[in-house]
Amino acid sequence: MAHSIQFIYSPDTRPDLACDRFLEETSCAGNTGEPIRGVKAKMALIEIYKLTKTYGNGKGTVEALRGVNLSIEAGEIFGVIGLSGAGKSTLIRCLNRLETPTTGQVLVDGQDLTCLSDSELRLARREMGMIFQHFNLLSSRTVAGNVAFPMEIAGQPKSVVKPRVEELLELVGLADKAKAYPSQLSGGQKQRVGIARALANNPKVLLCDEATSALDPQTTQSILALIQDVKNRLGLTVVLITHEMKVITEICDRVAVMEDGVVVESGPVIDVFTRPRHPTSRSFVDVVINQTDSAETIGYKPKGTLVRILFIGEAAQEPMISSMIKRFRVESNILQGRIDHIKGTAFGTLLLDLEGEPSDRRQALRYLNSLNLTVEVLANDPDA
Ligand SMILES: Nc1ncnc2c1ncn2[C@@H]1O[C@H](COP(=O)(O)OP(=O)(O)OP(=O)(O)O)[C@@H](O)[C@H]1O
Ligand SMILES: [Mg+2]
Repeated sequence: MAHSIQFIYSPDTRPDLACDRFLEETSCAGNTGEPIRGVKAKMALIEIYKLTKTYGNGKGTVEALRGVNLSIEAGEIFGVIGLSGAGKSTLIRCLNRLETPTTGQVLVDGQDLTCLSDSELRLARREMGMIFQHFNLLSSRTVAGNVAFPMEIAGQPKSVVKPRVEELLELVGLADKAKAYPSQLSGGQKQRVGIARALANNPKVLLCDEATSALDPQTTQSILALIQDVKNRLGLTVVLITHEMKVITEICDRVAVMEDGVVVESGPVIDVFTRPRHPTSRSFVDVVINQTDSAETIGYKPKGTLVRILFIGEAAQEPMISSMIKRFRVESNILQGRIDHIKGTAFGTLLLDLEGEPSDRRQALRYLNSLNLTVEVLANDPDA
């Protein structure tokens, strides 16, 4: 296979995700990128560079991916969030070449998947397990038979398959269901089988496409906990696609927000969650935050300025409200307060009705902003 090798700079929407990093450009997949020459640095486990995917041709053309750049580090849980049709499934399917990209590159551990022969691709795919929203189990096979399936396809002997299936079912907590059929399982149990099957060939990467979207909140929690557990035990890298911010905040380290075939924002979950920069990111965050607003505060008519404050980590310990009241001629009526966690980091939301003269309120708000909190004015009384 002929590769034209040169070094190219991989740009991204945030410096933390990308990009003092250089990729090897190959002649595959119609790459149209403008190479910038430089020194090759350490690569992430998965590098996606200027990835495009166009379905159909002529009038019916759909540009599902329009130039996606991402770097996913080994050992992280990387979330991709977006509305329906954003291109999430197309992206994840390009990672294991269930879809062939139109242009661009996908490098996994330095290997460009867009350049592989069929036999090389079969081997590369074993490095990636995938789980699906609707589980995709074979109804005619038992639980053990479903987990054994990818190993049988890979030509593993029975002597290897049988103990491995037992080990995997133990890992996902289904040792007692080996002989059951999928129709006899709950949704959560089916997804556990899906996870065991995805891990059968010892992959490096676990791809999850809306893996919890068909499950109730409690089962979602248990499946997310299982994904995190197997990731830690087996040293996996996880790429997780969802349309729910709650799933992202539960287990992801970093997140990319997709819209209309491009990544509009990306970065550590805590940053994107507390300071979303793109309106689409903000709308996902609002869904989570609004869920925390209690019924009493919905439709509340403020006596002063209704403010929502988001604070993270140590800011939660600061007596910011009392110091604000001491410094400025304002009164603060706390309507609601709560602390949640994003992957172990505390973040709090506080809903205040800030009373006082408008100029005093403005000063108090400036003070809160200066504390590096995320301060949002939700409503003002008519005289403000
Ligand atoms: N096989 C296909 N043929 C033609 N168009 C397709 C095909 N697969 C996806 N698309 C189109 O590509 C776009 C992105 O689809 P994709 O399934 O990647 O979105 P998604 O973000 O996963 O959405 P959802 O959250 O609903 O699963 C959509 O407009 C979709 O209609
Ligand atoms: Mg999808």
